[in-house]
Amino acid sequence: MKAQEGILGLDLGSGFIRCVAGELREGRVFINGAAQVPSRGIRGGVIVNMDKAIASIKAAVAETCRMADLKPENLIPAAGITGRQIYSKGSSGLVTVKKGKPITQDDVKRVLEQAKSISLPANHEIIYVHPNQYAVDSTRGIKNPVGLAGVRLELEAYIVTADRVFLENITTCLSNAGIRDPLFFFQPIAGSYGVMDEEDFEEGAILLDVGRTTTGVAVWQDEMLLIVDVMEWGGDHITDLVAREFLMSPATAAHLKEKYGVVGNYYTIDEAEAITVRDSKRGVEYTVDRKRLAMVIEQAVGELFTRIRAELERAGLYRVARSGTPILLVGGTSALPGAREMAEEIFNLPVTIGEPRGVESFSQDVITPGFAVGVGLVKMASQSALKPKPRLTFKQFWENLKDMF
Ligand SMILES: Nc1ncnc2c1ncn2[C@@H]1O[C@H](COP(=O)(O)OP(=O)(O)OP(=O)(O)O)[C@@H](O)[C@H]1O
Ligand SMILES: [Mg+2]
Repeated sequence: MKAQEGILGLDLGSGFIRCVAGELREGRVFINGAAQVPSRGIRGGVIVNMDKAIASIKAAVAETCRMADLKPENLIPAAGITGRQIYSKGSSGLVTVKKGKPITQDDVKRVLEQAKSISLPANHEIIYVHPNQYAVDSTRGIKNPVGLAGVRLELEAYIVTADRVFLENITTCLSNAGIRDPLFFFQPIAGSYGVMDEEDFEEGAILLDVGRTTTGVAVWQDEMLLIVDVMEWGGDHITDLVAREFLMSPATAAHLKEKYGVVGNYYTIDEAEAITVRDSKRGVEYTVDRKRLAMVIEQAVGELFTRIRAELERAGLYRVARSGTPILLVGGTSALPGAREMAEEIFNLPVTIGEPRGVESFSQDVITPGFAVGVGLVKMASQSALKPKPRLTFKQFWENLKDMF
């Protein structure tokens, strides 16, 4: 049996593998090790080269465990997964309650099981259920029905499922990297727990994680998960446009973008400013007009956010979220100066950069938008694994988290 020294959160990205080791120390989540290593062999959440993915994961885990002075076999692994092989939908359950008795935890369990017994896409299994709200008889909007009187208990839930073969491949990959029996969490949900506080979940907030090959979104309101989705576009779109414009390799374009890039519209750049980047592999040097770079990036970010907005409209974001619901922007692309401002303009919602909260960390380097998912994994898994409870309701989950601080 695991000594349960803590959690090993693994954010399986295509840009980076981010690994976070954390534990519950006197009731508080403490991060005691973290590392990010360039990811190889993963695209859009899918393992496309097993050997390369294993090597990347091994490197991230080794570095994290060395830092935390922990052994991976003593940690409970929580893998943050994403991709088109993950699907989500609303579901509901209904059970009758023993007459004259208040609703018990057992009734809640039964109605949850009911909500889970829906038809799933072929070869999918449920990886997460979020109880959105209960109804007791005709009273809706109940967050925790235990102790209430009634004869009819209904649950509206949001269910996340994943393709079995996709999960099997990730399990094999992790196992070959020395990580066994992982818990799985959908990245946009983990990212939400990483950067949102109780007020955000109650009043409503939108997590937008713009990574390298994917963009994840989770829309929350009144403690309910309303939309969770992943799109197969990310920062690579910006890199590709830069590479095409300046006729350079994607790796050089990514370096140029990350080091010197800004979104043109929001930054004034001196006409004469030129920068030099070197493609050391090919032995080529490029001199780039910084203003032109800023304009190309502006066009690329505009296209990327416009595509994301169209997808969010299609998913019903502007129907279900109150106007003015804040977007918390995370992921590597959020580091691009001007991305936040452009997101506000295109999404027509207030946008702030999301940073991990509600944890103590050995280093401030973890309290950055890139570690949103990693920190969220540790928070979520420490709730579900270290303190085993029969399926916490959202309220109970928060009450537990609140108790920690
Ligand atoms: N300072 C920066 N300016 C612009 N873009 C940046 C900067 N830093 C990182 N990026 C971009 O962020 C992207 C990587 O983001 P992130 O690390 O969140 O991706 P990931 O989670 O590994 O990938 P995914 O979730 O898409 O599988 C890359 O496209 C990278 O070029
Ligand atoms: Mg990511």
